[in-house]
Amino acid sequence: MPCVCIGVLLLPWFPCTWGKCIFDQVQKSIKVVSPPTGQYASAHWPLSEAAINVPVTASEDNPAPKPQRSKRAERHVESMAVPQPIRIKIWIPSESPALSDWERERLMTAVDEAVNKVSSLLSVRRVPDNLLLNRDINKYCKFIWRNSSTVNHMKCGRAKENYRFESCFGVNIPDEHLDGCAVYPHPEHPVPTVLKPEGMGVPDTDFLLYVLAHSTDKCRAESSLLAYAAHCQADPEGRPLAGTMVICREPLNMERYTHEHYVQTVIHELFHVLGFSKDLLSQRKDCSLSSQAGVDCWSHGQVISTDEMGQARLYSPTVIRAMQKHLNSTHTDLGAPLENKDVGSDGLSSHWEARVLQGSIMAALLVEPSLIRIDHITLAALQDIGWYSVNFSRAQSLVWGEGEGSQFGSLSTCHNSSTFFCTDSALGCHYLHLHKGKCLTDPYLDGCHIFKPLANAASLPFFV
Ligand SMILES: *[C@@H]1O[C@H](CO)[C@@H](O)[C@H](O)[C@H]1NC(C)=O
Ligand SMILES: *[C@@H]1O[C@H](CO)[C@@H](O)[C@H](O)[C@H]1NC(C)=O
Ligand SMILES: *[C@@H]1O[C@H](CO)[C@@H](O)[C@H](O)[C@H]1NC(C)=O
Ligand SMILES: *[C@@H]1O[C@H](CO)[C@@H](O)[C@H](O)[C@H]1NC(C)=O
Ligand SMILES: [Zn+2]
Repeated sequence: MPCVCIGVLLLPWFPCTWGKCIFDQVQKSIKVVSPPTGQYASAHWPLSEAAINVPVTASEDNPAPKPQRSKRAERHVESMAVPQPIRIKIWIPSESPALSDWERERLMTAVDEAVNKVSSLLSVRRVPDNLLLNRDINKYCKFIWRNSSTVNHMKCGRAKENYRFESCFGVNIPDEHLDGCAVYPHPEHPVPTVLKPEGMGVPDTDFLLYVLAHSTDKCRAESSLLAYAAHCQADPEGRPLAGTMVICREPLNMERYTHEHYVQTVIHELFHVLGFSKDLLSQRKDCSLSSQAGVDCWSHGQVISTDEMGQARLYSPTVIRAMQKHLNSTHTDLGAPLENKDVGSDGLSSHWEARVLQGSIMAALLVEPSLIRIDHITLAALQDIGWYSVNFSRAQSLVWGEGEGSQFGSLSTCHNSSTFFCTDSALGCHYLHLHKGKCLTDPYLDGCHIFKPLANAASLPFFV
């Protein structure tokens, strides 16, 4: 699904809400490109080294033209190393409008801080050589040789005349970031015509983020949208390799959005594009056990399902343990609940349920920056996707719901007042005790009420 995270300023009586995320809507509009695999892979191989080695015809001495392991496969072997902090490279595409010094400074300091934060939290098996993105065979190829008795079986036979470039969510990917592609004009003739040569790739990079500061239609449609993002390329195991983040240009110039708003928005969006999405979480694969090349990651099957109360939950082992610890419960079926308010056509959201995990960086609505936590449960979900090794010692305590038991935040209990929920519209204390609060609800709380911080100059600089 598409993933766009946005800052949306809601009603004036609800002053602490600024960030709503539209990730699910945007990610679903993207076709994610992966390296050619299986049959299609051979269409790619001869381009680099194999072209020289592949014999013209198969014979007894000269066995069937099986391309040797590609460069990519070798890279894959090398990449089976100890996870190290993920290297996220920022690339400003050439179509990015010229920014003022102020805008550029604001954008880059926030993006850099978010990237450093994320790479201090997540480690990956690093991409050994330069990162090279893939071309979509369906974009450049008009037809593929289908006759299995021919040398060029499953290779591209004709280029599409209008093939020009690959794009990533609206950004044209530079040729230097892309693998090459070729066509085989004759079914029996193994020498390809190179359409596009292999690019240099991007050094020291495990994830390439195109950052575009622009006033897009989506930004204009929602004046308080801060940013949105989606990933567009993945490795053979499905790990996202590249994505685009659009930073809406107008809010970038508004003083009410602070550096911290931007940092947290970018972290939230980065978590989405790196895998915190209902699609990637539900296809969760375990690659940690495949120590040898060629051993595919194994899938744990469906980990998102609906409990007896109709609440969608993420049931993966580290997440369940994190929920049990957080709520102090031994309930064995305690998956982390997903938001029921911003769901797509599949009934699922890529955010946590606000009643239960209020204040998490991966809740649907970002609140006042000082109240947001990069919590243990969010990190557990990223760990359980299978591609990342997470440094849990850097998790921030969520406080919300701590030790409250497995029923915490349910509609059957939230209407009783407690440390966390309130019932009338009185004034009280926000649960972190940093702010005076007013007992309010919001569209994600399903009628439950909580103390929301009152705006004041010290805690809410964006309202000054
Ligand atoms: C497939 O290719 C072989 C070898 O060139 C040829 O003999 C055969 O007729 C082809 N089959 C079809 C269905 O075109
Ligand atoms: C995890 O983070 C802590 C700091 O919070 C640091 O001391 C430790 O070295 C990190 N562990 C790894 C494996 O990077
Ligand atoms: C967790 O629950 C147990 C039993 O209900 C209780 O004894 C313990 O004090 C609780 N721990 C915390 C940290 O709330
Ligand atoms: C919570 O409220 C429900 C009714 O809404 C009531 O049945 C229940 O006893 C209350 N629980 C507590 C602990 O007050
Ligand atoms: Zn989001």
